[in-house]
Formats: sequence, structure tokens, C-alpha cells
Amino acid sequence: MRIGLVVLALLAAFSAVPVALAGAGPDPAADIKAFQGHFRTELPAIPLAAYVNGPYNFPGSGRAQWKQITEFPPYSFAIDSGKVLFETKFPNGKTYTSCFSEGGIGIAGNYPMFDPKTGRVVTLGVAINRCRVANGLKKWPLTKGKMADLVAYMTVTSRGRPIDVVVPNDPRALAAYEAGKEYFYSRRGQLNFSCASCHVQAAGKRLRGNVLAPALGITASFPLYRSKWGSIGTLVRRFIGCNKKVGSVPDKPDSAAYRDLAYFLTAMSNGLPIAGPGSRP
Ligand code: HEC
Repeated sequence: MRIGLVVLALLAAFSAVPVALAGAGPDPAADIKAFQGHFRTELPAIPLAAYVNGPYNFPGSGRAQWKQITEFPPYSFAIDSGKVLFETKFPNGKTYTSCFSEGGIGIAGNYPMFDPKTGRVVTLGVAINRCRVANGLKKWPLTKGKMADLVAYMTVTSRGRPIDVVVPNDPRALAAYEAGKEYFYSRRGQLNFSCASCHVQAAGKRLRGNVLAPALGITASFPLYRSKWGSIGTLVRRFIGCNKKVGSVPDKPDSAAYRDLAYFLTAMSNGLPIAGPGSRP
């Protein structure tokens, strides 16, 4: 279905929010149930695990082309480069394995993670940068390049494993989760759209030639290669793009705002399999 921005705005204005509404305080488990339940009711033809394929669940999204592409995926170079980075020794002789549980293999589904020491949410990219700094190296930009390559490698070792983001019963973790949820449902920019306006209320509809990915499973294929970018990019790179789309000023890639947003959004897909890296037009 083709849909214009005005229609979309109207649609968004009258639709219900599919998470448990404020009451006794944050309840991530209830939110996840409501969020996943909303999509299963609205789009019952899509099996839960297939949500990780985002727009390709809908006709007119170029699914056939995508299937063909995945035979020689454009992100394979990124995975190769990421593996080399992962295995290259730091000047002190250690590697990234020293910073992660399970030596960093198969753990992408546990991120973003709440860090009780700092009281902040740590995405996989932020954790990689922490590891670099702890070993005397400089941080990398979080959006693309070597960071995206390394995340791609660590993600491919996690493919098929369930997303399992934990929001512990710690007031700081719950506050971060709430901030992320609030960000997701807040309207912003000249168009006055929230993330939910497009990715919940208008999920599966067409907007300017694109099929809007449902918010359920939306983080699972990251990092992803986009022909439009001509390279692989991380989830924050996409956040920046979507903020700009509605005429709002993007946040900083390592901001608390984006970390919390990723925390909430990824938690909503708990139980779905990691599918990244992915590819998109
Ligand atoms: C005006 C509608 C609109 C709004 C508002 C919007 N997005 Fe998007 N988003 C899109 C479109 C369109 C695409 C995919 C097509 C494209 O542009 O490449 C997309 C793609 C995405 C993707 C990648 C999905 C995939 O499978 O490739 C993510 C993740 C995402 N958006 C997150 C967000 C978040 C988080 C927000 C709120 C900060 C947001 N979006 C706000 C329109 C929107």
C-alpha cells in the first residue's frame, strides 16, 4: 500500500501505543508481551522469527532480489575484515577476547547491556571502544568503518541465537529503559513523527518507495550493508538517518539517548534470532 506523509501522520495520531501504559512503574516484561502481541495481532501472517527480515516480509520490497544478493552477500568483506581485526593482537599482546564473556563469540544478542559499574547502557560498539581504550588504543567512530566490520564479525558468530537483553531490577537500568521507550514514542522534527509513527502504526506500508520495517525485530539484522550507503553501517547510523528523515537533529552516536533507545528497542525483540549482518537497498 502506498502512503503519503500526511496520511501517515493522521494514522499515527489515532493509533494506540502497543506497550503497557504507565501505572506501577517500568515493567519491561509486560511491555515485551504487549509489543510482540501487537504485531502478532496486526500482522498474523508473519511468523515471529521472520520479523528479523524487516521490510522483506512485504510484497514490493524487492525480496527476490534480496534472496539473490544473499548468495554472495555484500557484507562478506566486512565479516572478513572484522575477523582479522578481532584476531589482531593489541600492542600489549591481548585481543578483544579478553574484554568479553565467551571470548566475544556468540554474545551479540546480549547487547545492549546494562553496566552496573557505571550505571549506563553499553551497546556492542561502546563495549568494543571500552576494550580499545582499556588496552591503550583510540576509540573508533561508532557508525561505520572498522567498528561496523568488527561488529559484523561478532554478530555473525551469534547468528540464530536469541536476542536476550536483560533489564535488571536496578533503578538506573529501569530509568535507561524508560528513557529509551520515551524516545521511541516521542514525536520530533518538522514532521512531528515518532519512531512508532512509522515503524509501529505504519509498519509494512510504503513510504516514498520504501517498505516501512516493523519495529519488532528491527535491530536483529544489524549491522547491515546498504547500497545507498555503499558500505556497512551500525544501528546508530540508521538512528541518525531516521532522525534526519523527519527533520530532527540527530543525537551523538555514543549519547545516552541512542544507547537507551537501542536498549529499549532491542529488548522488545527478545527471543527473536540474531540475523545480522544484513543487506538492504
Ligand atoms: C517518516 C518515517 C520514519 C520515522 C519517523 C522513522 N523511520 Fe526508521 N525507517 C524509515 C524508512 C523509510 C526506513 C527504511 C527504508 C529506508 O529509508 O532505507 C527506515 C528504516 C529503519 C531501520 C532499519 C530497518 C531495516 O530492516 O532495514 C531502523 C532500525 C529504523 N528505521 C529505526 C528508526 C528509529 C529508532 C526511529 C526513531 C528515532 C525511526 N526509525 C523513525 C522511516 C522512518
